[in-house]
Amino acid sequence: MNRFTSLLSLKYPIIQGPFGGGLSNINLVKIVADFGGLGSFGAHHLPAEKIATLVQDIKAVTKGAFAINLWVSDHDHFTNSVTRSHYQEYVDLFTPTYQRLDISPPEYTESFSESFEQQLQATIDAGPPAISFVYGVPSKTAIDLCKQKKIRTIGTATTLQEALALEGAGIDIIVASGFEAGGHRVSFKKEAEDSLIGGLSLIPQIADKVNTPVIAAGGIADSRGVRAVMQLGAQGAQIGTAFLACQESGTTEMHREMLFSSLAHHTVLSRAYTGRLARFIENDFIRYVEKTKGLPLAFPMQNHFTASIKDKANSDKNPDFASLYAGQSAPLIQYSKTTDLLNSLVADFN
Ligand SMILES: Cc1cc2nc3c(=O)[nH]c(=O)nc-3n(C[C@H](O)[C@H](O)[C@H](O)COP(=O)(O)O)c2cc1C
Repeated sequence: MNRFTSLLSLKYPIIQGPFGGGLSNINLVKIVADFGGLGSFGAHHLPAEKIATLVQDIKAVTKGAFAINLWVSDHDHFTNSVTRSHYQEYVDLFTPTYQRLDISPPEYTESFSESFEQQLQATIDAGPPAISFVYGVPSKTAIDLCKQKKIRTIGTATTLQEALALEGAGIDIIVASGFEAGGHRVSFKKEAEDSLIGGLSLIPQIADKVNTPVIAAGGIADSRGVRAVMQLGAQGAQIGTAFLACQESGTTEMHREMLFSSLAHHTVLSRAYTGRLARFIENDFIRYVEKTKGLPLAFPMQNHFTASIKDKANSDKNPDFASLYAGQSAPLIQYSKTTDLLNSLVADFN
């Protein structure tokens, strides 16, 4: 037992990291929560009313602890709306890819992402055991409301400066996300490219300077990783890629196979799929965006224009265009069943 596990009445100091963009899965959350870890569901892409239903659906299948994950900042560098003529310019940039995959460009829209404020209100109203946040610090009002409703808050830092901002705001738990991690680099103080710190450096830097319990994320795929981060001052481990590779996650069979393949030995950071920096197995689409003038667009516009590319790539089982998120420890993955992974991760605690 430590302060982190006590806050959420967990049996084990393990968080199954959230996956945004439709890759989370209720059954995965249930298995982890029932086991005594913290399950997480990435909900940044869902409208507020769907999040309300989601929380009830998860509560209906488990009495264990889980977190709903939201992205505090919902757009970058522009006002989240665009004129029709600009829209057409953006369509033109993607046209070679749409033609190659034989798909139509997405319809014009004025707004490209869900509103964080509405999502947060719906999530607080639904009352999950925890809400985890990335890309910023939620308002004091929101944090106070969570405290009143006994919802634990989890913030995510990629630098010490971000961890101090989260602690200053009164967040309950801080995830320190190292450069090795799969998925997005969720920096919010400086550009993600200027906040690339490896876990070995980041975890003790943060653990030394904050009183809030710190959870390590990035590069942990087995019980050695869990042991190592606890040694560095973390009170728990958040694991993403190794859970994503399990058959119960929400990703595709193609993605899982790629995670177990030698291609996952080489990952790259790119803004190609969403407009925000994330770690992937490199493929043709990433190489195309990286060399094309005018691309990538800012988040969430890039995400809007790549949605149909990802869908078509998944239905065609085409890894050259699918978004193959992966962390640097993918080569360490061993398990396809979530319970096998969980049992191996907690081997030292039994
Ligand atoms: C496909 C994918 C999607 C992710 N989406 C989110 C997200 O929406 N919110 C979040 O807080 N973390 C997200 N993450 C990060 C994970 O929750 C976790 O912190 C990270 O994967 C840990 O590093 P690892 O992959 O090396 O285990 C994502 C990771 C992956 C692989």
